[in-house]
Amino acid sequence: MTRTVYVNGTYLPETEAKVSIFDRGFLMADAVYEVTSVLGGKLIDFDGHAVRLERSLNELDMPHPISKEELLEVHRELVRLNDITDGMIYLQISRGAPNDRDFVFPDPETTKPTVVLFTQNKPGLANSPAAKTGIKVISIEDVRWGRRDIKTVQLLYPSMGKMMAKKAGCDDAWMVEDGFVTEGTSNNAYIIKGNKIITRALSNDILHGITRAAVLRFAQEAQMEVEERNFTIAEAQDADEAFITSASTFVMPVVEIDGAAVGTGAVGPLATRLREIYLDESIKAAI
Ligand code: PDD
Repeated sequence: MTRTVYVNGTYLPETEAKVSIFDRGFLMADAVYEVTSVLGGKLIDFDGHAVRLERSLNELDMPHPISKEELLEVHRELVRLNDITDGMIYLQISRGAPNDRDFVFPDPETTKPTVVLFTQNKPGLANSPAAKTGIKVISIEDVRWGRRDIKTVQLLYPSMGKMMAKKAGCDDAWMVEDGFVTEGTSNNAYIIKGNKIITRALSNDILHGITRAAVLRFAQEAQMEVEERNFTIAEAQDADEAFITSASTFVMPVVEIDGAAVGTGAVGPLATRLREIYLDESIKAAI
């Protein structure tokens, strides 16, 4: 089925959607993005994604081309037009397309940002079989830039990381800097020891995950302890359980790190419970 997508105020078939070769997203990765999941035809944590988008734009001195209310309307319209029950909405805003390549930012008065949104249909997104078996990760050095808190489209290294994992027969990679895990290639990373959930504290080193914020809140409400601090791969291998979070995987158990089983090597009870709580609560609050 041909998708209906959104480009700069217009809904049109994906085959007719076009962006300039001078677009700074294309030439310089000068663009930010968000991925919002859809479950049961409703948006999960739209507000959190909209607030983080605003922050990303501010941090890069990019104009805000679309209000939060309009953005919600576009998300809903794309869900409707593409008949999405479960899936994702991808949104990207670039600094626009000046008529040439230049390192200097274009004048925002004459060059307007490029706004693109499209849907990804994923029936049964919340019932992923991987949630029952868990995933395997490898560790790789984190060589990304220093502003990982801004959700930019500079995804070459994360993409290479996924390929390294695939080559090693695994599902994903956890990145390590100065001996400590930063995050997964497209998700936040956690370990569990006893009743305690341990995850790196927020800083410019990691993306401030919207799912992370919700999961930590639900964990505390469920009387689990939360400790935001650095951890090593060795500590993770020695943990009782491990998991990742993101808008597309929700809470996904990790059962193996660099070939070593985590805990029993099977999906553990706390990660399973957190996934259930997260999905229940988020679906209840979806809009
Ligand atoms: N990735 N860390 C990184 C590096 C990410 O790319 C993501 C999200 C997260 C989790 O953030 P959130 O919970 O807000 O989705 C953490 C999205 C899903 C992606 O690139 O497809």
